[in-house]
Amino acid sequence: MARVAALADRWAEAMRVAPAERARWLRAVWLHDALRDAPAADELAHGPASATRAAAEGESDRGVLDAVRYHSVGYAGWDDVGRMLYLADYLEPGRTFDAGVRAELAARVPAERDAVLREVARRRIQHLISEGWRLPPETAEFWNAIVSR
Ligand SMILES: [Fe+2]
Repeated sequence: MARVAALADRWAEAMRVAPAERARWLRAVWLHDALRDAPAADELAHGPASATRAAAEGESDRGVLDAVRYHSVGYAGWDDVGRMLYLADYLEPGRTFDAGVRAELAARVPAERDAVLREVARRRIQHLISEGWRLPPETAEFWNAIVSR
């Protein structure tokens, strides 16, 4: 989680994001996997469970809660918080697969955020399809919201 936070913070710095917005990004990072290791938390369920807990503990920012709730699947209604968490969660350097490609994508985020977002979503969705898994409706709607044609 510290690596995800460090990456989001580095992007916020490079993108000259206002302090309050930067704080929203970091709150989402720290809240997003709060229940990752809890019993019965699976890949699709832990986001909603973490969001529910964050709300119960007083988080009231809709963008932060939506970022946490949908971070595993994507969400068409995201503001920048959800988009940055989705990017940071996938591009953080602790994941070992495709390390070189992901590092290049991470470096491009400050200048080309939306293009990198489409590339990350494309890679994640291709992986789901290649594994033969179903696409959650939120994922299909997210993809349709970010592609340009
Ligand atoms: Fe997660």
